[in-house]
Amino acid sequence: MSKKIIVIGGHGNVSLRLAKLLSTTYSVTSVIRDASQEKDIRDVSATPLVLSLEDSPVSDFSKAFTGHEVVYFSAGAGGKGGEERTKKVDYEGAVKVFDAIEGVDGPKPRLILVSAIDIRDPEKIPAHYNEDDIALSKKYREGMPAYIHWKYEADKNLSKRTAFKWSILRPGGLTNDPGTGTASIGRTHLTKPVSRDDVAKVLALLAEREDAAGLAIDFVGGNTPIEEGLDAFIKKGETDFLG
Ligand SMILES: NC(=O)c1ccc[n+]([C@@H]2O[C@H](COP(=O)([O-])OP(=O)(O)OC[C@H]3O[C@@H](n4cnc5c(N)ncnc54)[C@H](OP(=O)(O)O)[C@@H]3O)[C@@H](O)[C@H]2O)c1
Repeated sequence: MSKKIIVIGGHGNVSLRLAKLLSTTYSVTSVIRDASQEKDIRDVSATPLVLSLEDSPVSDFSKAFTGHEVVYFSAGAGGKGGEERTKKVDYEGAVKVFDAIEGVDGPKPRLILVSAIDIRDPEKIPAHYNEDDIALSKKYREGMPAYIHWKYEADKNLSKRTAFKWSILRPGGLTNDPGTGTASIGRTHLTKPVSRDDVAKVLALLAEREDAAGLAIDFVGGNTPIEEGLDAFIKKGETDFLG
């Protein structure tokens, strides 16, 4: 029987691409907070479900997740509404989803969380960073401190959970350019942006990669075919979230 998959942040730019790819193989439900987006969800052959990360209780999410094998979280405040809303959606919304998975009666779905590259303890600069990485990291941290802080708190919270399986995808800057089918995956440099098509592609592949459990995966523009790079990354088994 085909997997049942649920996507949180269903009307997002990545999520719509992801649902389109997944719905060729799986039964996909996309969670939105605004019923006027239902048609766009049906247009990518997914089923809409209206729930808000800010307003709906954990129990509604647990109920929605029951019977699903995979939950994707690709929601975010997108910098709208100030730090309070970033905290509400990117951190508290993510934690609500983690708690809701733990609250599922019976088999718990696996979670694939979309975070971002360079989310880390600000005091620990990864050993592979070069001068350009350090300069770009500094620029991100100065430009979007709340986003980076609350994504970090969410990733830290998830990385301590053991009640369900999870993986974290950490894309670099996103573009709407057509996908190339290639990327640089794993400990890489920060500078090359990556297309949302390619992010959706790697997310869709992760639906079948239970062996990526416990791994955080850096993902930026590059030249390695995505299937090959993902497979090599998982076989190596070295997470990119350094705490
Ligand atoms: N932009 C970048 O360069 C970049 C880089 C790395 C990682 N990321 C991350 O990648 C992920 C996907 O990016 P994207 O471009 O697809 O983002 P996006 O288009 O802004 O989509 C985010 C989705 O989250 C939804 N959302 C916001 N508040 C919500 C709430 N209270 N309840 C339910 N849903 C809510 C939004 O719904 P509405 O349509 O109702 O607003 C929107 O559909 C995000 O987590 C982002 O932080 C982005």
